Amino acid sequence: MEDRKKTLYSAVQPTNNLTIGNYLGAIKNWVSLQNEYDCFFAIADMHAITVRQEPAELRRRTLSLAALYIACGIDPDKCALYVQSHVAAHAQLCWALNTFTYVGEMERMTQFKDKSAKHADNINMGLMDYPVLMAADILLYQADFVPVGQDQKQHLEIARDIARRFNNAYSPTFTVPEGIIMKVGAKICDLSEPEKKMSKSAENPNGSIFLSDDRDTVIRKFKRAVTDSGSEIKYDSENKPGVSNLLSIYSLFSGKSIEEAEREFANSGYGEFKLAVGETVADALSPIQNEQNKLLADKEYLNGVLKRGAETAARTANRTLGKVYKKIGFYQI
Ligand code: TRP
Repeated sequence: MEDRKKTLYSAVQPTNNLTIGNYLGAIKNWVSLQNEYDCFFAIADMHAITVRQEPAELRRRTLSLAALYIACGIDPDKCALYVQSHVAAHAQLCWALNTFTYVGEMERMTQFKDKSAKHADNINMGLMDYPVLMAADILLYQADFVPVGQDQKQHLEIARDIARRFNNAYSPTFTVPEGIIMKVGAKICDLSEPEKKMSKSAENPNGSIFLSDDRDTVIRKFKRAVTDSGSEIKYDSENKPGVSNLLSIYSLFSGKSIEEAEREFANSGYGEFKLAVGETVADALSPIQNEQNKLLADKEYLNGVLKRGAETAARTANRTLGKVYKKIGFYQI
């Protein structure tokens, strides 16, 4: 029998600017997984509209994220890189799966509760249905593995529950996906408040390094990063959260271990250390930014990639959707 590759699925919303935490925790890891797995990487624009988006901005961010995926090293010849709304099966399967999901479960989702509090003037059905759409994303492709951040763990659990529920109600239809919880990105903390995770939507933008930040901005933000009392550059996340966070970032971008980094800066002061981290990050980001800009100048090429990606994705997705429609009793011609 042919040794088939396992399938991997993940997606990012084209909403706020991505931070280095999103990069280290998601896209960078995908690059190393793309040879081993059959990969589908989506731009989750249907999830994005669960909070109000400015249409022109959503369009711009969608294309920009596609360019970023490729600039970071996702190879569109190896993976299906596509926009969620281009594959109709996502909305179609979501509808069917809604009937296998309980309102109570959705009301209990942590992210739904958080977002309802944050967007109290727009608690729309889509916001509540968000996890079911995410389940549809994953289950359409029979994904074996789904790399996600810690914040999506609960959504992945629900996707597994829905898959099992459907399989039990009919017969095995969906692969029950395994989450790969990306720990690295989750460990990257805000530079101003190192007790908190670095976030795309933090109130103080000085604490987050965005992938789109230019060299001067990156270095300025690192220079202002909060360090801890004392003067030693040692990893100690309990007592020295600021320094430890900077060491983690340095280690991930330079490829050196934390111990190597500690040795390298054993005789440095905080100022010198922060500058070195800033320069290392800026050096790593600039080729990605250059490549992204080059790609964005060739819209024709990007459109072609997304078109092919959507066609590849739709083939797999429609196969699964067809099975589901048949099992639930939709009349077939
Ligand atoms: N909800 C995810 C996030 O905000 C993005 C996403 C949408 C996703 N569909 C997915 C992630 C399917 C993994 C699998 O991070």
